[in-house]
Amino acid sequence: MANENTKMNIHWFPGHMAKARREISEKIKVVDIVIELVDARAPYSSKNPMIHEIIKNKPRFIILTKKDMADDQYTKQWVQYYEQCGYQAMSVNLKNFNEYQKIIEKCRYVLKDKMEKEKARGLKPRAMRAMVLGIPNVGKSTFINRLANRKATVTGNKPGVTKAQQIIRVAKDFELFDTPGVLWPKLDDAHVAQNIALLGSIKQSILPLDDLFIAAMRYLSLHYPQLLKDRYQLEIDLDNENWIIDTFDHIAKVRKIKPLKGETDYDRVMEVFFSEINDGSIGKITWEDPSCVNV
Ligand code: G4P
Repeated sequence: MANENTKMNIHWFPGHMAKARREISEKIKVVDIVIELVDARAPYSSKNPMIHEIIKNKPRFIILTKKDMADDQYTKQWVQYYEQCGYQAMSVNLKNFNEYQKIIEKCRYVLKDKMEKEKARGLKPRAMRAMVLGIPNVGKSTFINRLANRKATVTGNKPGVTKAQQIIRVAKDFELFDTPGVLWPKLDDAHVAQNIALLGSIKQSILPLDDLFIAAMRYLSLHYPQLLKDRYQLEIDLDNENWIIDTFDHIAKVRKIKPLKGETDYDRVMEVFFSEINDGSIGKITWEDPSCVNV
């Protein structure tokens, strides 16, 4: 979504960041590949700004989750974009997921040289080990559970792995940490904060909701006018100086939202709109395209 002049005072506390970073840095030592989950509806905003520093030069596989809620065209472009950046990338719908084999194969492909080198040096063959990372709500637990439910054996003591951390064996040659690394989004960037709020990844109620509503409506009117038409019979003319009030009034009318003391119930209109955005009932929407970012 285009930059808006809004300021969203949301912060991931420095203490949280330091703890998350410490935990990940510990685990990363015994990991061969990082599986980074991002939300297909905002594949840039749902990334952690410091991932390069945190995981150093570990190979990275970027998986765009929730593709069932995102714009297919943009999802395709984002996957290509990340591939062009030199990563393995794919999109998934974790609600209907059966792509275990493809994921494991891509990890094998990335780690082929490393594993062959180890073998040539006479080291005992071992399973590749992966760790899942991502910001809150991106689908990390769902992803791990999907892989684990398929074929999970919790393995015993492993070098470099503490008791609190469990490793699960998902395939003969593939292991996964059973808990993901939780990263923080770049919330000091208003554009990112808005997108993350629209994904439902931070509580919308702690943002200036009217700013979020206006920014979302502006974006939808430019990129998805048909969805607004289909859902609310709404056509927005951004050149009309009253478009914001008109939009509120229109949705209130279409959704039969009762006036409050003779006025449109703006809060209720926003509540309805955001819940329909969150549950995907307005349609498949992506809030940013690869041309607008420099990852
Ligand atoms: P996290 O560990 O990264 O915090 O995320 P988690 O797996 O808890 O997933 C957050 C929400 O996103 C869950 O919904 C989950 O079902 C949903 N989700 C994850 N991946 C996908 C996907 O590919 N498509 C769709 N449509 N949804 C996905 P929830 O409402 O919190 O829980 P639930 O009622 O669905 O279980």
